[in-house]
Amino acid sequence: MLVERAYAKINLTLDVIAKRSDGYHDVDMVMQTVDLSDLIWLEMTHDTRMEVDSTVSHIPLDARNLAVIAAEAFMAHTGIRRGLKITIDKHIPVAAGLAGGSADAAAVLRGLNRLFDTRLSMQELAHLGASIGSDVPFCVFGGCAIARGRGEKLERIEHELKPWVVLIRPPVFVSTVDVYGALPPEHWAKAVASTDMVAALQRGDFSRMVQHVSNGMAATTFHLYPEVGAMEKRIEQVTGGPVFMSGSGPTLFCLVPSRGAGQRIYNALRGFIREVHLCRFI
Ligand code: C5P
Repeated sequence: MLVERAYAKINLTLDVIAKRSDGYHDVDMVMQTVDLSDLIWLEMTHDTRMEVDSTVSHIPLDARNLAVIAAEAFMAHTGIRRGLKITIDKHIPVAAGLAGGSADAAAVLRGLNRLFDTRLSMQELAHLGASIGSDVPFCVFGGCAIARGRGEKLERIEHELKPWVVLIRPPVFVSTVDVYGALPPEHWAKAVASTDMVAALQRGDFSRMVQHVSNGMAATTFHLYPEVGAMEKRIEQVTGGPVFMSGSGPTLFCLVPSRGAGQRIYNALRGFIREVHLCRFI
């Protein structure tokens, strides 16, 4: 039996470039792993069945779960026929723009590679991950990267910044497919924000980094789900600082340089929002 950590990500930038003929959109985004994580327990069993369990009741345990799809893809790719028990200890908010499901899928790929000593390279795991979801390849590696194509083409970014992140998950269910579908071509990016973001990260300049956080989907999400936009305004009033959105939402976040500053925001918001998390770049 072994355990693998599945880390959430936030988007520091997200630009949608254009719609493609395969139904996806070309994107350009800076993704950053944060230390909010699920734990994925993997265990070989003595039959050939796959058993899936979770610490929470609100996620599916069948082929709608990306972790299950990942396990099936790994077994098919390697030809291994063993029974498997997967236990998902869930902490990352679900369907929230934090790639929680993709992180679980990536952790299953990394974990099974260890469990069965199959020695697939990270590139191979990422390639396998791309067939499961656009964010899975990033989650295989983690860290910081520019993701292009539909999200699967990665350029790793090395930097030393370790700011704190307050994550706020409004109680709204957002459909990524609907947000992409409603995105007007006027919101497609003519220039990408990742260039300035990467420069700020590599200079270790926290203030400049915060200035360059952006999300080309936020206006569309706020239009489709006005509660998310209303929540953003309310948080801005409480904190007096900028509030950003991750992925297609609804998770909002604040970036602060110290744990103390993060804790103050956490305490202020916790009074009226149920799901708030304090975490850090990792
Ligand atoms: O890749 P994934 O399965 O996570 O994507 C879910 C849906 O989100 C896609 O079917 C597509 O409608 C939309 N999508 C997109 N462009 C991307 C990623 C996702 O249009 N780059």
